[in-house]
Amino acid sequence: MSFPARRPRRLRTTPAMRRLSAELVIAPQQLILPAFVREGLSEPNPISSMPGVVQHTIDTLKAAAAEAVELGLGGIMLFGIPETRDAMGSAGVDPDGILNRGIAAVRAEVGDELVIMSDVCLDEFTDHGHCGVLDAAGTVDNDATLQIYGEMAIVQAEAGAHMLGPSGMMDGQVAVIRQALDTAGHQDVSIIAYAAKYASAFYGPFREAVDSQLTGDRRTYQMDAANRREALIEVELDLAEGADMLIVKPAMSYLDVLADVAAMSPVPVSAYQISGEYAMIEAAAANGWIDRRAAITESVLGIRRAGADTVLTYWASELAQWLKEGK
Ligand code: PBG
Repeated sequence: MSFPARRPRRLRTTPAMRRLSAELVIAPQQLILPAFVREGLSEPNPISSMPGVVQHTIDTLKAAAAEAVELGLGGIMLFGIPETRDAMGSAGVDPDGILNRGIAAVRAEVGDELVIMSDVCLDEFTDHGHCGVLDAAGTVDNDATLQIYGEMAIVQAEAGAHMLGPSGMMDGQVAVIRQALDTAGHQDVSIIAYAAKYASAFYGPFREAVDSQLTGDRRTYQMDAANRREALIEVELDLAEGADMLIVKPAMSYLDVLADVAAMSPVPVSAYQISGEYAMIEAAAANGWIDRRAAITESVLGIRRAGADTVLTYWASELAQWLKEGK
């Protein structure tokens, strides 16, 4: 008898054998494309820290959504960049605000062929850049912010969003949004809750993407990078408040949290591969330091392997294109 009897390398001998023994695959339907639409643009505007990602015009946003349908993506997550901002983030609740116009345009373009998601948060709309409104002391006022989130939710549902993504990490945000939607007759509009969202240095490029006005940080509302168990409290609260799906964010530096959440969640779990994760791989690849496509694929496989059912990634369309080509 030869020794050892068990030779794991047998299953690695050929590409066909490796394909057969793969424990999981990436499918286009598991990918969600985050997309930015900016008011007042006549041409799409490149985001320098996110090569290949743009601030869309309404027209190019519609085209990106139509392409997402072609490619079989699971969804699109919309963010809006208004021309004018104020302390209350009024452009977010204005039915004519850029995000709401973007939602309506995408819904008119793709109907129900793609799950249209939208960001329920004030940071793109406030002149101070925080995710909520401020009290007299300059602190983000949780409950005053919740009221505005409720209004935003109704306006976004009315514009045509299928699923809302509250990303502001205010306590009670899912409950307030659920109640607002139900009261306004939008029982079928669902909520994908950013349950465990950490204060991360890797959001840097996103701040450029939305022309963020933030000068401080978000540490009084986003989670601390040191905390793993606390994520389960956030998840339990969001589930109890009616979250239909959950998001863990960022992905790469929080794969343990993602695995914990995936192990206990009765609802689908998503992970957001954020702007800084995108920028790092793009920058290293542009320098010839890593193989771009292999690194992108591996990074998304790692997120799926940790337990994500779906992945928000700026590479969603390109990945789906690769999968379609079968290469
Ligand atoms: C807040 C929001 C942020 C991101 C998504 N929603 C920024 C933040 O919390 O500072 C970051 C996404 C990314 O970095 O790709 N509305």
